[in-house]
Amino acid sequence: MTVARLLKDRYRKIFVSGGAGFIGSHLLDILVPQGYEVTAYDNLSNGKIEFIEQHIGKPNFTFIRADMLDRKRLIEAVRGHDLVWHLAANTDIIGSHERPERDLRDCVEATFNMVEAMRQCGIRDIVFSSTGAVYGSLCEDRAVSEDAGPLCPISGYAAGKIGSEAFICCYCHMYGLRGWIFRFGNVIGARMTHGVIYDFIHRLRENPDELLIKGDGRQEKNYFLVEECIEGMAFGLLNTELDDQKPCEIFNLGTDSVTPVTKIAQIVLEEMGLKNTRIVIEGTPRAWPGDQPRVHITVEKINRLGWKARLSSDEAVRIAVRRMLGKE
Ligand SMILES: NC(=O)c1ccc[n+]([C@@H]2O[C@H](COP(=O)([O-])OP(=O)(O)OC[C@H]3O[C@@H](n4cnc5c(N)ncnc54)[C@H](O)[C@@H]3O)[C@@H](O)[C@H]2O)c1
Repeated sequence: MTVARLLKDRYRKIFVSGGAGFIGSHLLDILVPQGYEVTAYDNLSNGKIEFIEQHIGKPNFTFIRADMLDRKRLIEAVRGHDLVWHLAANTDIIGSHERPERDLRDCVEATFNMVEAMRQCGIRDIVFSSTGAVYGSLCEDRAVSEDAGPLCPISGYAAGKIGSEAFICCYCHMYGLRGWIFRFGNVIGARMTHGVIYDFIHRLRENPDELLIKGDGRQEKNYFLVEECIEGMAFGLLNTELDDQKPCEIFNLGTDSVTPVTKIAQIVLEEMGLKNTRIVIEGTPRAWPGDQPRVHITVEKINRLGWKARLSSDEAVRIAVRRMLGKE
């Protein structure tokens, strides 16, 4: 049986910024074996060469270690591609409190350079990885759809994504680009380098007797697996026609359920076989400055288009924990 190619025959040469990162490397795992010509562009600030070494040396794969802020290099690298999958960004949400300029540079300026490089090279189509965090406190107690606003970000990360979305949108209207913007829930799976699951596992390895849950313990977010995230983006891209009248579209992407942080702790403890660990809840309203404890997004728009995540948020969490523990 032939497995359908992710992007069918719509695209041939695909440029993946942030291609050595968590989501980017999984995207390469799909695109490269399917025969697309793929370029991964990454400065390895958070990405890892071991995530992509299985593709190095393949005739249809090129890795370029370079910075999004090096616009000249970016223009040379992107020339000749017919789709840009733009994933590069600062994803150290906690650390950006100390260095807020990272969200300006590695997200907004990086995205500006990306669309400007596309304009100069005559490349039209861009897929962008945004976040449900753009809704700020609007999504704290109710699930919000794509038209919720005004968007008042409470972290540099969310501000960086709003700025990036804005540049993509205006380049679509001014210079004929077409943009598919996806605001994700929490994407999880193997190769995570941060996030609550990663954090719990690492802290429990250091001290299996106690697990500290930062914040007020009432956090709940939408979790979905990385392959479902990639599939959802591809579905939205292939099934949304954009033109000069409507050159840019925004979708929330995730499951229609959420998992409380205490449930994540329980799953991690079960999968690590720990029965006597004491759970301590810190008791502060936010786990760190800029933390968004509860993120609720509706995914009805992408569901109406015909795509739905197969797994619930709880199911996805268990699989991701097992993958991080090397159990599957
Ligand atoms: N993982 C999630 O839950 C989630 C949720 C919402 C949005 N996103 C977005 O999806 C994208 C991918 O996220 P991820 O989880 O794979 O994170 P990641 O940190 O693993 O991947 C980002 C990649 O971008 C690279 N990068 C950063 N700044 C760069 C620069 N200036 N020049 C070149 N490369 C640079 C990093 O080295 C890294 O490999 C990001 O834009 C992120 O904001 C992720």
